Amino acid sequence: MSNDANASGEKIMPGGKNVLVRIEAGIAWVSMNRPEKRNAINPGIVFEMNEVLDHLEMDDDCRVVVITGSGDAFSAGQDLKEYFREPDAGHPVLRERLHKANSQWQWRRMMHFPKPTIAMVNGWCFGGAFQVLLACDLAIADEDATFGLSEINWGIIPAGIVTKSIAMAVLQRQALYYIMTGETFDGRRAEEIGVVNFAVPKDQLVPRVTKLAETLMKKNPHVLRACKQGYHYVRDLPWDAAAEYLAAKSDQTKLRDPEQGDVKGMKQFLDEKSYRPGLGAYDRSK
Ligand code: COA
Repeated sequence: MSNDANASGEKIMPGGKNVLVRIEAGIAWVSMNRPEKRNAINPGIVFEMNEVLDHLEMDDDCRVVVITGSGDAFSAGQDLKEYFREPDAGHPVLRERLHKANSQWQWRRMMHFPKPTIAMVNGWCFGGAFQVLLACDLAIADEDATFGLSEINWGIIPAGIVTKSIAMAVLQRQALYYIMTGETFDGRRAEEIGVVNFAVPKDQLVPRVTKLAETLMKKNPHVLRACKQGYHYVRDLPWDAAAEYLAAKSDQTKLRDPEQGDVKGMKQFLDEKSYRPGLGAYDRSK
């Protein structure tokens, strides 16, 4: 249970203005909510999203987080007026606070979020929106969604951590092509180059994301969390250090797993012969 409850024990859900949250059957559907501005990311979204993520981390009703956008956009990237022009002209400490809070939610927290995360790209996806898209564990797009690294078109580089995110996700030829031309591409191309896992027709988007979330919810959540941590930390480690880290992480995961998945799995395969790990999951209820 989350601690965010009022005196009557009713859950207090943060957000409601710039960020909408709905939890249904274990899935938290989180929408950037400035459809009239194509969900351009302003300070309102930044600070509200951090509060929402604080809540969802601890809310046991939320087992998978889906990040999407209201209306016909995922997000048109950082808000040129409210995220750049106004803070750039304002107090430098406030500007720094905003930029730090933004990198917190868009990639640091999403990348290491303790629950699985899925980006559901329902429309326009530009610039800074790539940070959250690529920090999510998995992503599914409307095949007609429009993606673009448009920074070159208005005289800046893809900063924040956009360039690093795209460099980690796709091959150099594609990364530099889209960074240097600013050319847009659709969901099908995003799937081809590995920016998203799948692109589907618009009417299949929610069902496909729901199906993926349901698959993830069947897995041992403690081990899923450790899998994510292992993946992100070993990417930057040399081989020997990676092997040592993973050995230690594996022992820690077994030791701290509340459902003792490895013991159950081993028993069900070796002794009871009731499942095949190559063909499906062990029975978590036993
Ligand atoms: N920052 C600030 N405002 C933005 C914005 C952004 N990144 N993207 C859209 N908006 C605003 C527009 O200024 C407009 O505001 P207004 O109604 O007050 O004039 C409103 O959102 C709707 O945008 P509009 O351009 O009319 O919508 P569209 O559907 O015709 O086009 C886009 C959608 C996404 C193609 C277009 O808005 C766009 O190119 N946005 C900038 C994308 C970008 O380069 N982002 C990178 C930022 S890091």
